[in-house]
Amino acid sequence: MPERRQEQKLALQGGLKAVGRIEGKGRPKVGIEEFMAVARRFGFSPTALRKVRAAIAEEDMGGGPFLANYYSDLKETCVQRFERAARETFGVRHALGLNSGTAALHAAFVAVGVGPGKEVICPAIGFMATAAAVVTARGVPVFCDVDESLHMDPAAFEELITPRTVAVAPTHVMGGVCDMRAIMRIARRHKLAVVEDCAQSSGASFRGRLVGTFGDVGCFSISAYKIVGAGEGGLLVTDRKRLWERASQLAECGGLWRPDRFAAPRHEGELFAGTNYRMTELEAAMDAVQLRKLPAVVRRFRTVRTRILKRLRTYAEITPQKLNDPEGEVGYLLRFFPETLELGRQIAQALNAEGVNAWMRSEGASPDWHQYSYMYPITLGESPTGEGCPFGCPHYVRAGGKIEYGRGDCPVADDLFDRVISVHLNQWYTAADCRHIADGVNKVLAAYCTRDRGAAPWL
Ligand SMILES: Cc1ncc(COP(=O)(O)O)c(C=O)c1O
Repeated sequence: MPERRQEQKLALQGGLKAVGRIEGKGRPKVGIEEFMAVARRFGFSPTALRKVRAAIAEEDMGGGPFLANYYSDLKETCVQRFERAARETFGVRHALGLNSGTAALHAAFVAVGVGPGKEVICPAIGFMATAAAVVTARGVPVFCDVDESLHMDPAAFEELITPRTVAVAPTHVMGGVCDMRAIMRIARRHKLAVVEDCAQSSGASFRGRLVGTFGDVGCFSISAYKIVGAGEGGLLVTDRKRLWERASQLAECGGLWRPDRFAAPRHEGELFAGTNYRMTELEAAMDAVQLRKLPAVVRRFRTVRTRILKRLRTYAEITPQKLNDPEGEVGYLLRFFPETLELGRQIAQALNAEGVNAWMRSEGASPDWHQYSYMYPITLGESPTGEGCPFGCPHYVRAGGKIEYGRGDCPVADDLFDRVISVHLNQWYTAADCRHIADGVNKVLAAYCTRDRGAAPWL
């Protein structure tokens, strides 16, 4: 019989513990080098970087931060701070930070019930991400023509509604705003969900109310290329708890957003397979600050745009872009339509020669994903597998759905997208800059057009 030695008595029975203490001392998982990588990305000088390194080296970071939104012992994580800033900025009950505007749109479409056999009406001018998010939600986008505001034409929208339509996605284009009164009226009459795409017009308003708060859900991109934002980020806002829950489930299907991630569904439609579109703590740290800057940024753009528009003269051969709400638009572009492409080319060239940053696309230019007919990943009707869903999905076909896309579907957009002249404005222009730019535009228009005091005014 083997002898039982005293030291083998189990700790449970009062014996010695096998592991008394751990000698290996951990270093922070996310420590100085990572912090320095961020500082370097900001472009600080070598001297500043040395000082930053010395300052953080003095800190004892213990096990170090993990930069996680969930399972954090912080009272409020950066993502939560960003979402609180969003609720306060937009005056909404629920906000969800995501890793892109496209993710926000996908989550929103799934939340409102877009799926196989369903159509969503999207604008002919906007950005491909809106229609692409419809397709990733297994729905079919139907493009709606624009009017002279370059935004969705409410009359055209109503004509496109079919029994398969479940939602409309008005996109506020390049600092402008849709006619939300008309769109909401039609959408409500036909019981359609409204997903506002505000990626290009964060902070704009229509008749005193911020865009993103009219529809059932408002989606924003908070990326480096937008009015406010850094890196890649997205935001979804809504007043409706159930929609916020479904969007959260799509965006964080691990269920960490739920009070008890493993609990049975609390109501029908709460649980389904989603993905991981979580916003990161680093991104949220930046975006919470960026979002607080939004009102001041928008104010500056509006001041610049108003100063310039007030000085502009009217001419017979050009038409200013129709503004659905001159007070509410952010206005980082000043836009107008020359009568012909040839005239437009001359005006754009002359403006640039005067030092005014102006641009016109013109016909035959390279493809552009801001206009429906160039959105090839959608218009080709292809899908990652051979079955051809959602375009050829039995649910869609059996419901009478059939779609093909091509230039000519939205003739107003075809024409105006090529012909619009865009003058880029900068929020930091001084009063003198504004004067010089307005005078430059007047000078060029006077050279190519006929003064017409009775023509449509700029403002
Ligand atoms: C109108 C519109 N919607 C959605 C997006 C997509 O946003 P993100 O790039 O953050 O995915 C963009 C981006 O340019 C956009 O302009």
